[in-house]
Amino acid sequence: MTRENWTSSIGFILASAGSAIGLGNIWKFPYMAGENGGGTFVLVYVLCVAFIGLPVMCGEMLIGRHTRRNVINAMGKVERLSGRPAVRFVLSVLSAGMAVAFATLHAWLPTVLALLGVWAFAKKGFSAIGWVCTAVALAILSYYAVIGGWIVDYIWRALTCTLAPALPDGATAAEVAKASGAVFGDYVANPWRVLVGFLIFMALTGVVLLGGIQKGIERMSKVLMPALFILLLVVIVRSVTLPGAAAGIEFLLKPTAAALSPKVVLMALGQVFFSLSLGMAITVTYGSYLHKEHNILRAAGWVGVLDTLAALLAGLAIFPAVFAVGLDPSSGPGLIFGALPAVFDAMWLGPVWATCFFVMLLIAAVTSSVALLECGATVFIERWRRGHKRGSRKHAVAVGFALCTLMGLMAVFSTNDWGGCAALEKAAALCMGQLAHDSWFNLLDNFASNWCLPFTALAITLLVGWAWGPRRAAPELLAAGEEGRFPAWVPRLWGFLVRWVSPIGIVLVFLSVSGFLGE
Ligand code: PHE
Repeated sequence: MTRENWTSSIGFILASAGSAIGLGNIWKFPYMAGENGGGTFVLVYVLCVAFIGLPVMCGEMLIGRHTRRNVINAMGKVERLSGRPAVRFVLSVLSAGMAVAFATLHAWLPTVLALLGVWAFAKKGFSAIGWVCTAVALAILSYYAVIGGWIVDYIWRALTCTLAPALPDGATAAEVAKASGAVFGDYVANPWRVLVGFLIFMALTGVVLLGGIQKGIERMSKVLMPALFILLLVVIVRSVTLPGAAAGIEFLLKPTAAALSPKVVLMALGQVFFSLSLGMAITVTYGSYLHKEHNILRAAGWVGVLDTLAALLAGLAIFPAVFAVGLDPSSGPGLIFGALPAVFDAMWLGPVWATCFFVMLLIAAVTSSVALLECGATVFIERWRRGHKRGSRKHAVAVGFALCTLMGLMAVFSTNDWGGCAALEKAAALCMGQLAHDSWFNLLDNFASNWCLPFTALAITLLVGWAWGPRRAAPELLAAGEEGRFPAWVPRLWGFLVRWVSPIGIVLVFLSVSGFLGE
């Protein structure tokens, strides 16, 4: 079977931006910023994108394009080609460090996993990291699709004008917001209805993926990504012209020193990896379909800029509205589902805007969930063999779909609490210690994005920055035949960042969060 390629640079950039821009930008970034100090979080976030996120992204694209393999084989191959087997022991040491960090937080299950990692990395090296990346991607998809399901449901509500309950005329926006927050709370507490949306969303993801790289992912992204930006601008225009919107803009853009803490930095860093789709095999996988004549630095730069822009625009669409209707910006994952219906309710042609907004959100979510499932699918297609038969795309999508749906059921049935199951709650507290959360959904999100992603990203900096080495890797950042036509300091700067700044930054954040550097 021949491997597909992207048809053009733009196709690759849009598909990568499609994977990067998703619920992470529009649903998660605003509520994370809301909970973690507004402007301060935004500033830390932007710095993390520039100095840690982008170098890692270039590294992932390089690994993918150089090897043209699924993530597991790709990492193994780069490690072998580097001829520096010692790095895998550094990986084991890092894993041991993670085990200690988890133990200090009494998170016993991750401690055991990290100890297993010590052995697996020593024995299998970076291909074991490839497995971790794939597992994290599938785990993330399992709850990502739950939020996707909420969106499907909210499109239905917007179309049928049932976003907010019917209140007597003259109800204030704050009252409407409170009532629609309650509607959201009731909704997520009713797993059967959530299940329907979740299954529809998973099915949508599977269908796009069956189309493959060019006809499925690339074609979809080229149409949908521009549509997304246009819809976002429409919602912003409405939001910033509401009376009282200025306070929201200030909240989003003005940093305050008092709000800075190690936790805020950890959250921002985890969010950078999540939002740029790093550390979970996506960018390696997408890079593996990239031709040699494309320039990786340029592509990564565009993806980074578009993704950050989308997050900031989402903030601009949401916070002015949140403040205009007097809501609490730190109301967590339900922020957009509780707050925005009140805004739309107060607007002329409200249901039309609401439908636009949620359709846009669905677009963003599907272009990302497709990417999450694709990395598992590529692994399956390229590694599964029975006799001489390779896995087919159809089989791969079916297996990924089944796995994520099963895992997703946990998140469907315990979005708010533990689905009323005290034993489950106890087990979570026992296994996860201070990392335990109020629900499976939040536990998975926090563990996967704030702990696993920085770790796998750290491994990637090690592989590219130290095993392969910038001297050998950097020339490949440019398109074939482009040497001498591109400013030479850019690849050099990349080498420095990926070798020193990114890994040290990640380690420092870990140390401070697990209390080794003090608060
Ligand atoms: N980056 C996506 C977002 O911001 C989430 C995602 C992560 C998608 C990893 C694909 C892979 O929503």
